[in-house]
Amino acid sequence: MQQNRLKEILQEARTQLQKAGSLPEAEELRVRFLGKKGELTEILRSMGSLDPEERKELGQAANSVRKEIEGLLEERFAALKDAGKAMRFKAERIDVTEPGRPAALGALHPITVTIEELCRIFMSMGYSITEGPEIETVFNNFDALNAAPTHPSRDMTDTFYITEDVLLRTHTSPVQVRTLKRQSPPIKVISPGRCFRFDTPDATHSPMFHQVEGLLVDEGVTMADLKGTLDCFAKETFGASTRTRFRPHYFPFTEPSAEMDVSCFKCGGAGCRVCKGSGWIEVLGCGMVHPNVLKMRGLDTEKYTGFAFGMGVERIAMLKHGVEDIRLFYENDVRFIEQFR
Ligand code: PHE
Repeated sequence: MQQNRLKEILQEARTQLQKAGSLPEAEELRVRFLGKKGELTEILRSMGSLDPEERKELGQAANSVRKEIEGLLEERFAALKDAGKAMRFKAERIDVTEPGRPAALGALHPITVTIEELCRIFMSMGYSITEGPEIETVFNNFDALNAAPTHPSRDMTDTFYITEDVLLRTHTSPVQVRTLKRQSPPIKVISPGRCFRFDTPDATHSPMFHQVEGLLVDEGVTMADLKGTLDCFAKETFGASTRTRFRPHYFPFTEPSAEMDVSCFKCGGAGCRVCKGSGWIEVLGCGMVHPNVLKMRGLDTEKYTGFAFGMGVERIAMLKHGVEDIRLFYENDVRFIEQFR
C-alpha cells in the first residue's frame, strides 16, 4: 500500500518537475516532495507503527525514492539555471562591431563664423581685438564722434534711447572713442559687436545687426595706408582677383570719408543680378579719422593721423554665401544654420 504510494509520489515528482519552468517553481516542488511537511517525510514518519521487517523495507524504498527525487531536482535546477544564463547572455549581448550612433553636433552660427573670419584676416595684419558695450552713452555714440547736434541719425525714430544720455549703440564706432581714451598710439584694433537701429525688419534691414570696426592711429598714416589695407582685406575675403574702388562719402568722424566697393565676385565686373548690373558691390564705410576726434583725446593732429572703417557683418555674410534675406540669420532654423558648418 505504502509502496504504491511511493511509486505514485515518484511519478508525480517526475511529471511535475518536467513542467517546472522556473527556479521558484522547482523550489516549490522540492518543498512539496522533500520538505519537512512533504509527502515523503509523512510516509517516513508513519513508519513507527510498522513491524521492523516492514519498516526496513519501506525505509529503504522511501530512501531510494528520496534519492531519485533529489537527483531529478538537481538535474532540473541545473537545467533551469543554464537556460536562465543563456537567456541573460542573449539579452545582454553587445555587438562590438556595430557602428556607433553619431552624436548630434551643433554648428557655429554663420554670423559667428563670419566675425571670426574677419577677425582672423585683420589679426594676420597685426590688429588686436577689442570690444565695447552695446549700451552706450549718447556722448560716445554721437558727440565724441563729431556728430552735429542736429545730425539725423540722432533722431528718436532712428535710435533706441534708454534715457536722454544712454542708448543702444547704433554702430561700433564708439569703440574708437573708448580705445583712444584708453590707449596711446600706435593703435591698431578691430572691434566686432552688435548694433541697434530703429529699423523695420525687411530683407535687408534688422533692428539688431553686427559690425566690425577698425581703427589705426599712428604717426604719418595716410589715405594710401587705408586703401592698401582694405584692398588686401577685400582680396582675402572675396578672392584674389577682387578689385576695389573708393567713392567719396560723408561720415561726421572721418575726413575725407569714403565707401569702398568691391568688383562683383559673381560676374567679375561685367554686371549681373548680385551687383544689380553695375559690376560693383558696396561693402564698407571708411575714412581718415577726423582731427576733431583725435583732439578729443588731446592728440597732436599734426603728428598723428589715422584711418577707420566699419562694415556690416550680415551684409558680408549675405554676399559671400548668397543669402537673400537678413532675417534668416535670426530665425535660427537649423536647416539654414547647418549649411555653414
Ligand atoms: N560707423 C559707420 C556706419 O555705421 C561706418 C564707419 C566706420 C565709417 C568707421 C567710417 C569709419 O555706417
